[in-house]
Amino acid sequence: MARVLVTRRLPTGGLDPLIEAGHEIVTRDDDTPFSKTELIDAVRDVDAIVCLLTDRIDADVLAAGAAGRLKVVANVAVGYDNVDVASATGHGIVVTNTPGVLDETTADLAFLLILAAARLASDGERDLRAGVWDGWEITEYLGVDVHGATLGIVGFGRIGRAVARRAAGFGMAVVHHTRNDTGIAGWTADLDGMLASSDVVSLHTPLTDETRHLVDARRLALMKPTAVLVNTARGPVVDEAALAEALHAGRLFAAGIDVYEREPEVHPRLLTAPRTVLLPHLGSASVATRVRMAHLACAGALAVLAGETPPNLVHA
Ligand code: GLV
Repeated sequence: MARVLVTRRLPTGGLDPLIEAGHEIVTRDDDTPFSKTELIDAVRDVDAIVCLLTDRIDADVLAAGAAGRLKVVANVAVGYDNVDVASATGHGIVVTNTPGVLDETTADLAFLLILAAARLASDGERDLRAGVWDGWEITEYLGVDVHGATLGIVGFGRIGRAVARRAAGFGMAVVHHTRNDTGIAGWTADLDGMLASSDVVSLHTPLTDETRHLVDARRLALMKPTAVLVNTARGPVVDEAALAEALHAGRLFAAGIDVYEREPEVHPRLLTAPRTVLLPHLGSASVATRVRMAHLACAGALAVLAGETPPNLVHA
């Protein structure tokens, strides 16, 4: 029997695979994020951690775990920029994530943001709820059409492709950019050119040193003033301050944002930006998907604890 630290409360039934396997689950009643010191203390005598993207599993935490008997960090997220994978690998600690199970749910959310931002849904709803809507006007709430528009997808992994499938149903022309040729129609090596010619840009790239501020002030300036930017990937892929300024200045038509540079903080200029839909990082938040993510994280931990190589292993 192994000891498994679970840093936060998971969806009901999410830990069943670990419990059924007879492992001891270590949790705390208080469902708030561990501080760094608390995390360092907590990892000293566990075999596995099941953690969330809000936990920073850095070199110090991993060193404390390695000094004990930590074998696996199972991140309940597909993105794993919160884990120092190189350091884990150096200590022989395996890192797993949750690929594959949240693609469709996250793509649904990206499409919701594309539609809501392009059609000014948040502005309209806000006015209606505030009682300031005074009736149908032919010149009010004029958005841009999604059908027939050109969608530029940055990053064409499973989620980007799931968004492309939805776009086909809306009659959109889809192009995509990745570093290496995908061999799929619509690929372009020219990110700047794609940003300049797209009506909607949706980001689906992991956060790495290369993608941090990939969409910065220079690239935002390349986009059409009628364009819509959607980010369901990771906040730091976009320079949030530069995005807010572009929206305030009317240099970009609209934005749909689910992820932020310093969550849960949101840049104050973004909070007041016009034609902007802001959601609280809920891309994968459906009941079924969150349970699937928890189960996949458990499967990763179980495999490592059984001395096997998990299929959802993250490579440094
Ligand atoms: C959510 O953001 C995830 O990476 O799973």
